[in-house]
Amino acid sequence: MATAPIRIAPSILSADFARLGEEVRAIEAAGAALVHFDVMDNHYVPNLTIGPLVCEAIRPHVTIPIDVHLMVEPVDALVPLFAKAGANIITFHPEASKHVDRTLSMIREHGCKAGLVFNPGTPLHYLDHLMDKIDMILLMSVNPGFGGQKFIPSTLDKLRAARLRIDRHVEAGGNPIWLEVDGGVKADNIGAIAVAGADTFVAGSAVFGAPDPDKGYRTIMRQLQQAAG
Ligand code: DX5
Ligand code: ZN
Repeated sequence: MATAPIRIAPSILSADFARLGEEVRAIEAAGAALVHFDVMDNHYVPNLTIGPLVCEAIRPHVTIPIDVHLMVEPVDALVPLFAKAGANIITFHPEASKHVDRTLSMIREHGCKAGLVFNPGTPLHYLDHLMDKIDMILLMSVNPGFGGQKFIPSTLDKLRAARLRIDRHVEAGGNPIWLEVDGGVKADNIGAIAVAGADTFVAGSAVFGAPDPDKGYRTIMRQLQQAAG
């Protein structure tokens, strides 16, 4: 079980985009730790979503950090734009950047926390040599591109492996690193995901697909707290 505090990051991908300000205010009021912001470019993933303009538009509506998940290729040009638009955390997929170390440094230089995202088929060895430059590891538990997909069970083993890497790194005096999971997180699996080592949980359809986001958030948080004991 992760010793770090647990956090839920509702993904606005499943929110009502015509009422986005209201939707993000509702999740902060419910107790959400982060706003998860999915950026898709119809190149790295086969879907097209939102960019820095939308990040800037929601920024005044919440005080919680905005967790920007870049599913784009190339990555670097968007880093300063999202930092300026009020992002607090910026994560990207390592295979989408030609110079992963440089992109991570650039994110921190722009005042944000930096993280790497691993698709279900992407090996964790991208973490080698980079742990000191990383604030967040995000494991995809679906192939990226769409909300509402089914959780891939082998992610649990990968979470345990990532948790081990983080714990060893911290024991050796390294910086703390959050372990986030994204895709298909629901009330019936969030407990097992926590036990496997995640401390931060993205939930799109589980929160915004519920009768109201407050109810969706509370349902999964209740399950998570039970698993955390
Ligand atoms: C998928 C996105 C996810 C997605 C999660 O590419 O990165 O953040 O919105 O949605 P659910 O929780 O519905 O699987
Ligand atoms: Zn995401």
